[in-house]
Parts: sequence; structure tokens; C-alpha cells
Amino acid sequence: GRPADLAGRRLVISAGGTREAIDPVRFIGNRSSGLQGYALARTAVARGAEVTLVAANVGLPDPAGARVVRVESALELRAAVLDAVEGADAVVMAAAVADFRPSARSGSKIKKTADEPDAIHLVKNPDILAELGERRREGLKPYPRVIAGFAAETDDVLANGRAKLARKGCDLLVVNQVGDGLAFGTPDNAAVVLVAGGEQVEIPRGPKEALADTVWDLVAARLA
Ligand code: C5P
Repeated sequence: GRPADLAGRRLVISAGGTREAIDPVRFIGNRSSGLQGYALARTAVARGAEVTLVAANVGLPDPAGARVVRVESALELRAAVLDAVEGADAVVMAAAVADFRPSARSGSKIKKTADEPDAIHLVKNPDILAELGERRREGLKPYPRVIAGFAAETDDVLANGRAKLARKGCDLLVVNQVGDGLAFGTPDNAAVVLVAGGEQVEIPRGPKEALADTVWDLVAARLA
């Protein structure tokens, strides 16, 4: 059994991947399955936490004991996370949030034409993790006490991860190397957790629950 070391803690987890609408039937999306975020939710509940799971387009059953808020787009995810972090102890942003969205959503299905289609114009989405870090730095409520994020990197994993941890102002950044049959849609993961201040914790390839428990160990230590 797991320790009840998160009893009474209010935790917010984002999971899955956002969809940015092009028209009523099409979107720009990504391959995030939500498995890692759901593993974080299950393990946190098992350790006694009160969990809000903000799920973006996840085809998995709700984890028992968690409050689940379903969203589709990055803007919806931002609103749900900001709402949920009010009074929360920690947030773990495991969702793959689209960096860009189409500048306009066509109200009707875009028709096939004989000539080349129009380009889809994109605008930037807010970086929710960075925003939470900034709110905390400025003392602008709501913000959680502990802020953690995930980052998938393909090269210079540690250097890029450290830079991202600093840029986003978070306490923990779980960095995983993508590719090699790991991460997206698979039950296993391998990662390095970068901790603000210098420490780093290597998590060998294993079930996403094991990675989740290590994240909660580090969060619990920072909340203590
Ligand atoms: O910058 P990058 O997308 O690699 O950072 C990944 C981390 O930032 C994840 O924790 C993700 O949930 C978060 N993120 C976010 N808002 C965005 C993009 C990423 O909160 N617009």
C-alpha cells in the first residue's frame, strides 16, 4: 500500500491533449493519450489527496475518487485549471497543450474546392504552466504552492529541460525523451525529474504509476 502522505492535499492535474477547432468537424490535435495524467490522478487519490483532473480529450474512464473536468481546447483547459487551482496545494501539468490555435473557427464545414485550399492562420495559445509560475512570482491569486510540468524533448534533453524549468518558473519538470516506443500511448515511461535548485531524479523505464509516485514524493517533500 501507499503512504497517506497526501491526505488533505488539494491537487490539480491536467491530462490528455487539447484540440484546436478548425471548423465544426476538424481540429488540430496531438497524440497524447492521457495515460500519464490518469496515473498521476490514481496514485494521488491512493495517497489520500483530493484530486481535480482536468482532462482534455481522453478516452479513458474517470479514475475513482477524482473530480473530473472535461475540456477540449487550450483556452478551455486554461479556464478549468485556473478555476481548480484556487486554494490548491499543487498543480501537475501533464497535458499536451497546443502552442497554437487557428485564429478563427469556421462556423460551417470548410468545403473541398478545385484549387488549392486557403492556409490555416494560427495564433499563439497562452502558456498555462508559465502563467501559473508568473502568477506565483507576482503573488497574483489564484496560484498553487507547488507547480510541476512535463516536457517531451528529442535532443539535449537535460540542457533544454533546465532552460524550460527556469523559463516557466516551475518547481519540478519531468523531462522525457520521446521516441523509442516510450511516452505517447504506451503504458511505460522513462524520465528525469529536474528539481528547481539543482537536484535531478532519474526514473528508469517502468510503469507510468511508478513515475507518478516519484513525482508525488517530490511534491509531498516540497509541501511538507
Ligand atoms: O513548452 P512545452 O510545451 O514543451 O512545455 C510543456 C509543459 O508546459 C507541459 O507541462 C504542458 O502542460 C505545459 N504547457 C502549458 N501551456 C501551453 C504549452 C505547454 O501549460 N500552451
